[in-house]
Amino acid sequence: MLILALDTTCDETCAAVMDADTLQLRSDVVHSQVAFMQKYGGVVPEIASRQHLYSLPLVVDEALRRAGITFRDLGHIVVTNRPGLMGAILAGVSYAKSLAWTLGIPFSTLDHVECHLFSPLLGDGRRVPPYPWIALVVSGGHTEIFHVDKIADVQWLGGTLDDAAGEAFDKVGKLLGLGYPAGPEMDRLTREKIATVDPDLYRNAIRFPRASTPAFHFSYSGLKTAVREKLARQENSDPIQIAACAQEAILEPLVTEVRRALAAYPGAHAVVTGGVACNSRLRELLPEAFFPAPKHCSDNAAMVAVRAADLYRQGRLVESSYSVGAAPTSALLVAAQHPKEPTFASP
Ligand code: KG4
Ligand code: ZN
Repeated sequence: MLILALDTTCDETCAAVMDADTLQLRSDVVHSQVAFMQKYGGVVPEIASRQHLYSLPLVVDEALRRAGITFRDLGHIVVTNRPGLMGAILAGVSYAKSLAWTLGIPFSTLDHVECHLFSPLLGDGRRVPPYPWIALVVSGGHTEIFHVDKIADVQWLGGTLDDAAGEAFDKVGKLLGLGYPAGPEMDRLTREKIATVDPDLYRNAIRFPRASTPAFHFSYSGLKTAVREKLARQENSDPIQIAACAQEAILEPLVTEVRRALAAYPGAHAVVTGGVACNSRLRELLPEAFFPAPKHCSDNAAMVAVRAADLYRQGRLVESSYSVGAAPTSALLVAAQHPKEPTFASP
């Protein structure tokens, strides 16, 4: 049973094909709008929605081509419908619903954060840690810790009280003039610099505040202010050192709370996913955790496909109704006839 999975919750148009019986990932295509959004310094929701309309038919065609199949081979369509940018989600859900209706096959909707959470099931060539998990989902929109038990049921333990960790990276990076998104750039610049200096001295030179929060919770809203004040006070500051020290202030609470949860649930295995899980320093600080391949930490549809396939195999993949909301729209048909050429990020 072949599943076509889609994700358009933010500024990546993602499609993947998975064989639900064997969990073989047949294709995995991501078209990122990041380069396009850089001139705005962030994601403009209305523009992202329109770009999804242009990209969806092309990205889906490419996913089918790489899987070596046609629309007629598909057995089920799955799309994320929460949380995210409403217009962007509407583009993906309308497309999925229209396609499923046209092909006469079922379609289902899933939660984007839940799909991040289960992305370790992709394995990426390594042994998937057995349940129970302590799962940290750490991205541009979310910083949440879950306990996942052996039948794959999920209990939320805590999360951020204000900004997400990825948002903290992006906001601090913006103050340092690093463009959008700043997380990968802060990671790269500090990694390169650390190779040439005493790492501990360098990244602990400025002690930015760590918020005092209840167990399994986080708070990052004060960090941006602390960095801004530091920049205002100190001329001739080293922006890479500020980035390195801010990175420590963002990552340290993540490590502390994951370890606190591991201590509270003996026998659980740590998994860390979401865009910030690409961070090389976080991977170094949490060697006991399983991290998916970076391309499966940031937004993708393979994680949607594997969660859907897992639920399907347990008989728990709930079908959604065609009846509510958008039918095939003229906007979609126009977009399909006048596509812009996207570039594909991964084979
Ligand atoms: O999961 P994701 O692709 O999209 C959301 O669902 O939010 O996460 C994007 C976030 C951005 O805030 C980006 O700056 C951050 O992940 N990010 C990183 C790194 N790569 C991506 N943050 C720190 N270090 C990285 N290497
Ligand atoms: Zn995401």
